Amino acid sequence: MKRKVLSAFLIAAMTLSMAACGSGSGDSGSSGGDSAPAADEAEDTDDAEPAEDADSGELITVGYAQVGAESDWRTANTESFKSTFTEENGYKLIFDDAQQKQENQIKAIRSFIQQEVDYIVVAPVVETGWETVLEEAKEAGIPVILSDRMMEVSDDSLFEAWVGGNFVQEGETCGDWLAEYLEEQGRGDEEINMVTIQGTIGASAQVGRTEGMANKLEEHSNWKMLEMQSGEFTQAKGQEVMESFLKSYDDIDVVIRENDNEAFGAIDAIKAAGKSCGPDGDIIVVSFDSVKAAFESMIAGDLNATFECNPLHGSRVAEIIQKLEAGETVDKIQYVDESYFDTSMDLESILEERAY
Ligand code: AHR
Repeated sequence: MKRKVLSAFLIAAMTLSMAACGSGSGDSGSSGGDSAPAADEAEDTDDAEPAEDADSGELITVGYAQVGAESDWRTANTESFKSTFTEENGYKLIFDDAQQKQENQIKAIRSFIQQEVDYIVVAPVVETGWETVLEEAKEAGIPVILSDRMMEVSDDSLFEAWVGGNFVQEGETCGDWLAEYLEEQGRGDEEINMVTIQGTIGASAQVGRTEGMANKLEEHSNWKMLEMQSGEFTQAKGQEVMESFLKSYDDIDVVIRENDNEAFGAIDAIKAAGKSCGPDGDIIVVSFDSVKAAFESMIAGDLNATFECNPLHGSRVAEIIQKLEAGETVDKIQYVDESYFDTSMDLESILEERAY
């Protein structure tokens, strides 16, 4: 197992560069910065500090076990890793798309171990079932970094760090937004019927958003959750589930979709059923992620609000790796700041600056 240590020269160069970043000029020179009001400052860049071992000229090999390509969010996340972990930046990236299957991710991690990569990064499909393969990585001496979704493990030394969104908070922000919106519409005390199209069952993004919204349901005795079903975070399944909800219930007031792509599918289903949605429609529609297409949907008057989940984790993971290479400690749990967007905002202007 090869382990590389950055030379004193590189560490000094990195320190100087990080100090410069913190000096307030804030100009990375890269395009595509996300201008979301409260979004995390650390943006995806392909101009990250070169992480190559200055003595040997070797690249740092990173194996990324990606969930799949189920959503616009996921595409942006993949792009974030591919543009950050480049040879130019001192990395060799081995990318694996697990097609939303945990067994494929476990196979990918084992293959990374065999290839003696320097770091393994995982965006786990679901939270449970990882102990054995993480122990294998630990035995091989390969640090594991979790990104986006979390793993539930009894021994947290099995991974170095996790960086991602606070999914429970996203769900709660959604519930608080809805309460305020209904109040503004004079519907605060009305009986409100809801349905939820959940994400992949057992994925942190599903577990957290469902829990956050459940916390808010407890605060509103007039809110009734009629049914929840998984749409697997995809547009096609989101549409299919919404079609079945519309057949079962004729009095849906609010649809919660646990990602934007499910929302796009559900909006198609609502329209096909002869109903309307959005601020002037029959049904209030909210979703999570805040990808560009969600802004277009809000501008078109179909979607009421979207709760942000930032996918640009490539540079955040690179920063963790650089710190570990330099022998520094890293925060185990690293939440990214996130915001939300609704039709009361200047969406055109925000969209112009939006990175994903
Ligand atoms: O884990 C993040 C979630 O995964 C995003 O909300 C969704 O779009 C993606 O598939």
